Amino acid sequence: MRHELFSRAKYLCLAILILPILVFANEESIKSGEQKAMICTACHGVEKSVNPEWPNLSQQSKKYLVDQLHAFRDGVRKNALMSSQAMGLSDKDIQDLAAYYNSIPSEKGKLKADEEIITLGQQIYRGGIYDRGVPACISCHGPKGLGIDRTGYPKVSGQHSIYTLNRLKNYKDGYDLKDSVSKNYAIMSSISFRLSNLEMKALSEYLQGLY
Ligand code: HEC
Ligand code: HEC
Repeated sequence: MRHELFSRAKYLCLAILILPILVFANEESIKSGEQKAMICTACHGVEKSVNPEWPNLSQQSKKYLVDQLHAFRDGVRKNALMSSQAMGLSDKDIQDLAAYYNSIPSEKGKLKADEEIITLGQQIYRGGIYDRGVPACISCHGPKGLGIDRTGYPKVSGQHSIYTLNRLKNYKDGYDLKDSVSKNYAIMSSISFRLSNLEMKALSEYLQGLY
């Protein structure tokens, strides 16, 4: 019994010693990411990107950022502007950049579309579309659209509606080859495949103002 207590105390001491080291390591990574992100800021800004076709990265889930940067670097996800940016990144650069963008709080997004279209978006986001087997987006992306970091489910709220709409269409177009991209891509591709253009538009307008 005494032995067990002693051993527990030992683990506790160890945890107390290691915790500050872990926090310190993450802060170092964020700082280093900030330096490395100078070039990214030209397009992605800090809280918000300058062009609505370029995604905001602030407060984005870290695992998702890491996954996407690997996908661009390895040529699995392609984009004329972005692919060349990722080509020269090391694994450490990717970790640091993801830690940095994840640490920046986002600005609140604004709703810009008509009420009718926002309501349709909200309905699908919260309840899915039962007849067509579309699951509620909220179950993976959360009530505030912040995603679930450890699973790589991204933050989708406060994003430019133009970017989101392009992305949903891309998932839909990629349906036939979805399994060759990644497990997570296949999840989102199967969902987008069942949405009409109007529904994708409604969702992207709703998400822009969600927070
Ligand atoms: C010349 C403009 C430009 C620069 C510079 C740039 N990006 Fe991008 N980035 C884009 C565009 C455009 C997209 C959207 C691609 C798409 O639609 O698939 C993108 C997408 C991304 C994504 C995916 C986000 C998501 O929500 O899926 C990440 C992550 C990213 N960029 C990180 C970076 C990082 C880190 C840097 C700096 C090393 C960087 N970008 C530099 C234009 C740029
Ligand atoms: C079962 C979980 C799940 C559900 C339900 C779900 N998603 Fe996703 N979503 C994901 C995953 C995983 C990804 C990342 C896919 C990847 O790696 O490309 C994602 C990515 C996205 C992206 C891309 C974000 C970006 O920055 O590029 C958007 C937009 C999105 N989802 C919107 C929706 C909408 C709208 C719905 C409801 C119609 C929905 N999702 C339902 C899991 C889910």
